[in-house]
Amino acid sequence: MARIEVLQADITRLDVEVIVNAANNSLLGGGGVDGAIHRAAGPRLLAHCRGLGGCATGDAKLTPGFDLTAGWIIHTVGPVWSGGERGEPSLLASCYRNALAIARERGFASIAFPAISCGVYGYPADLACAVAVATCRSFAGDDAPPGRIVLTAFDQAMAERLSRELRRERA
Ligand code: APR
Repeated sequence: MARIEVLQADITRLDVEVIVNAANNSLLGGGGVDGAIHRAAGPRLLAHCRGLGGCATGDAKLTPGFDLTAGWIIHTVGPVWSGGERGEPSLLASCYRNALAIARERGFASIAFPAISCGVYGYPADLACAVAVATCRSFAGDDAPPGRIVLTAFDQAMAERLSRELRRERA
């Protein structure tokens, strides 16, 4: 059974096999964690992404990590929150599930997620954390990779939300 853990950290510094980027549909960089990952990975990442033809919301695409500690990046595009009645929860779940499916297919042992859609895209953090934990938990049902799933919080409040959700799920 995969281990799911919460870390308060800058995701670009984590020593995992693949980190997940909360990107936008263009895949050509932005602010937030997208900006941090592009800065840490270096200009070769943007050059590589130019050839990918973008990414649909809920979908996920793999690139090398270039100058990052992590060898790989999975770029996914979370939904913009617009009240919760336009399929946001299932689109957010798809981000986690599609990223985990790529990690499994490539045999990556460890993966780290940021809190997808919880920044610029305005997804209410408590609702997003529930989707993140439930989706990772249901995907991690058997012994296939990844064996380690890290839910990365950039601040203490998010770390506490994720930890609370993880405990709740276990109860
Ligand atoms: N490490 C880990 N988490 C981070 C980091 C970092 N270095 N930087 C920011 N975060 C956290 C934010 O605090 C937030 O909780 O990532 C979460 C996601 O926030 P955003 O980066 O704003 O992503 P999102 O809400 O999905 O919006 C995506 O923002 O940056 C643009 O190009 C991106 O258009 C896209 C949109």
